[in-house]
Amino acid sequence: MKANETTKKIKANKLISSNERFRRKISFEILKGLFMNYHIVTYGCQMNLHESEKIAGVLKGLGYEKEVPLEEADIIVFNTCCIRENAENHAFGNIGALKKLKREKKYLLIAVGGCMTQEAGKAEILKKKFPFIDIIFGTHNLGELSSLIEQRRRVKKFLLSVHDERGETEDGISPVRTSYPNAWVNITYGCNNFCTYCIVPYVRGRERSRSAKDILREVEGLLEEGYKEITLLGQNVNSFNSDGRGEMSFPELLSACASFGGKYRVRFMTSHPKDFTRELASVMAKRENVCNLLHLPAQSGNNRILSLMNRRYTREKYLEEIAMLREMIPGCDVTSDLIVGFPTETEEEFQDTLSLVEEADFSSAFTFIYSPRTGTKAAAMEGKIDEETAKDRIMRLVEKVNENTRKKSARFVGKRTEILCEDFDEKKKLYLGRNEEGRMGYFASDKNLIGEFVTLRIGQANGVSLYGTEENRL
Ligand code: 5AD
Ligand code: SF4
Repeated sequence: MKANETTKKIKANKLISSNERFRRKISFEILKGLFMNYHIVTYGCQMNLHESEKIAGVLKGLGYEKEVPLEEADIIVFNTCCIRENAENHAFGNIGALKKLKREKKYLLIAVGGCMTQEAGKAEILKKKFPFIDIIFGTHNLGELSSLIEQRRRVKKFLLSVHDERGETEDGISPVRTSYPNAWVNITYGCNNFCTYCIVPYVRGRERSRSAKDILREVEGLLEEGYKEITLLGQNVNSFNSDGRGEMSFPELLSACASFGGKYRVRFMTSHPKDFTRELASVMAKRENVCNLLHLPAQSGNNRILSLMNRRYTREKYLEEIAMLREMIPGCDVTSDLIVGFPTETEEEFQDTLSLVEEADFSSAFTFIYSPRTGTKAAAMEGKIDEETAKDRIMRLVEKVNENTRKKSARFVGKRTEILCEDFDEKKKLYLGRNEEGRMGYFASDKNLIGEFVTLRIGQANGVSLYGTEENRL
């Protein structure tokens, strides 16, 4: 799953507005009668971004009006990630930076949730290091967030609610969606795979599928509301219904999600190569509106490392799957996640990952230096790779991936491609949106085209970005 860590350092003491200066002077009792606002800081993957939309839903339900800059918020919620050490360090740094703000704004509430709080002993460390935190809630406790905040508003007391497992898959929370025209829809929660480097199964619990009926109802509702792209989310979407709760297989669900009327697209992530099937490839091929882009994390191109990672496929099987997909969808784009510096990885084994980029012809890939996570099997393995070697490997890997990305983007130059316009870039003064292959297309327009499908003629490519002119509107 794509990691999208917030690297921005939070500055809690920027210039504040006169309205905010007034608010800081009045008591919480008076403030309660005024509109209160929130700020959510999100780290990590799409799953967390969507969870933050649900946190916003909880806050709106409690009467918080809107999202405002951090220093003006009446409640700040951190939605944390613990997949790699640097994600945790960013959260620690940014929570710590709030000490002064919390001292100045007595009524300010600070809540910390997300994966980090589910790690063994982490909630206690957080509370000890940052005694000004008001609420710590786990990934299984979103349904309780509302009552936790209400309790904390009544009684000045630290509240902790971190459960081990959540059985149910419906939390009944309406998200405040922030990604129009795309909407994220959870299909599974948790993971059963226990890749030896990964902490997700420990902090997200066992895999649970939502029922297809609930998912389809949600998708239909979103399309009625005008969303034009649906992204189905799960740690391993291919094993949807492994617990029998989903009522159908993932290819069947994908096909059903793509069969409503009107023009829209369907994406999904993440697929595990051990569960990728011909049936899924054939749904991608048959359904026009399922995007021709597969994110299939390989992690390594070497069989010994793949086995140590407990990935349960070989390089050969991985390449066969891609070949099968491209037999059905010629030139289908594939992206990946790759890790370097896994314990005992040799230079030759790393070279196998480098060569996989070319052989699999990845359009792009997220590249990571292995980060030991306490409690995982790999963390106890011998043969740690030194930092210098790992950094050298990642630089060479990034170079190789970029080379391939440039090559794959160049094929769009001089051609037409359809994008779904999703935003306006204030700096570039250009509209932007992705084509089905995931490339970001930029173009100028005097009309606001957000939410519309636009055909561009591409004049130039730069990395994963394409620059073009509008041909016609569909
Ligand atoms: N170290 C480095 N990368 C990791 N990932 C997961 N756990 C680790 C770790 N301990 C990467 C994998 C996964 C992506 C979401 O994060 O590549 O696919
Ligand atoms: Fe982690 Fe592996 Fe599960 Fe992905 S499939 S979340 S890498 S354990």
